[in-house]
Amino acid sequence: MSEQQLEQIIRERIRQNGRISFCDYMAACLYEPGLGYYTSPGRKVGTAGDFYTSITVHAAFGRVIAREIACMWRSMGQPDRFDLLEAGAGHGRLACDIMDFLAAQEPVCYAATRLTLVEQEPSLAEAQATLLAAHLPKLLWRTPAQLPQCRIRGVLYSNELLDAMPVHRVVMTADGLREIFVALEGEQLVEQLELPSTPALKTYLERYGAPLLVGQEAEVSLAGLAWFETAAAVLERGFMLTVDYGFPKAELYTPRRRQGTLLCYHQHRVEDNPYIRLGQQDITTHINFSALMERGEELGVRTVWFGEQYRFLLSAGMLDEFVAIESADLSEVDKLKARLTLKRLIMPEGGMGDTFRVLVQAKAVDEPDLGCLRGLGPR
Ligand SMILES: C[S@@+](CC[C@H](N)C(=O)[O-])C[C@H]1O[C@@H](n2cnc3c(N)ncnc32)[C@H](O)[C@@H]1O
Repeated sequence: MSEQQLEQIIRERIRQNGRISFCDYMAACLYEPGLGYYTSPGRKVGTAGDFYTSITVHAAFGRVIAREIACMWRSMGQPDRFDLLEAGAGHGRLACDIMDFLAAQEPVCYAATRLTLVEQEPSLAEAQATLLAAHLPKLLWRTPAQLPQCRIRGVLYSNELLDAMPVHRVVMTADGLREIFVALEGEQLVEQLELPSTPALKTYLERYGAPLLVGQEAEVSLAGLAWFETAAAVLERGFMLTVDYGFPKAELYTPRRRQGTLLCYHQHRVEDNPYIRLGQQDITTHINFSALMERGEELGVRTVWFGEQYRFLLSAGMLDEFVAIESADLSEVDKLKARLTLKRLIMPEGGMGDTFRVLVQAKAVDEPDLGCLRGLGPR
């Protein structure tokens, strides 16, 4: 029902104003109030949802990030005010795992910490408050529109935020760069190639992309870049930690990816048609880590570490999580299950371990001493 309603709204928009960019189409599919994939009821992440994120696999992911956050606090001189901000906090699972770890293992850091949760979908605040009940006095909630007013001296982190932002899609033709728009033929949504809706697409590709071959499609995340610029300004001093699937530009825009990276997820199946199940399936793309690193350098947010998730987790404390399982009061079968679950987070060769990358950036912190810098370096 809501699928038809959303399709009707999109058709009406096109009838009234003409074709819309794929970016506007994707924004409606994901975020149309009450009808979009992320803005309508229903489980998205986990076994009962459409896809897993590292957070839903095991709390060890959040605990290792928390260890690194404690190192960041030390690298900043153990300030007695330490801000955390999670963007795209979802149900609050990662925030909860981080705060639980800090409270139990890093009490001085925990005492200095306050946590701001920023989430596009306001109804998730209730789930976050329930999950984080033990830490309520330390919590603040802000909407994405309020993000520019935040001032963070600490760590601004996200897991799978940027891959959920709407993107423009472009194609290189013999006549030059063209953008994919969504139009109507009768009642049918169809794609049309036209001149780009904004010169920002060409500028982005020149700065943060790679030359496209004729026939090659690619995505451009102007929304992701704009979010990053805001986040970099919000961070007065400290670190940005970004976990997501994506590549540096040479890998992202390689001619091998002739169709770009756009994919849809529904009940743990991968689809490539974004024009079905409107608002009922996730639409996502791989992110451009070069854009974050290069724009970061221009904005005084310099890259400290970038590499695969497995390298990050193993360097930053995952081995201690395996040791903790061995000494836990669990049966041998449960220990084995826990070990196998943890392994999923660090499995390379197509597992979460190297599909996901971690980017750590620092602003106004000299010579940070972080776990990721001590262990396995980036490849
Ligand atoms: C793929 S989900 C990831 C959720 C959670 N971080 C996890 O790993 O399970 C992306 C989340 O980002 C939220 N989101 C999208 N754009 C956002 C923005 N500009 N600011 C804050 N949250 C946003 C979505 O509503 C959604 O909850």
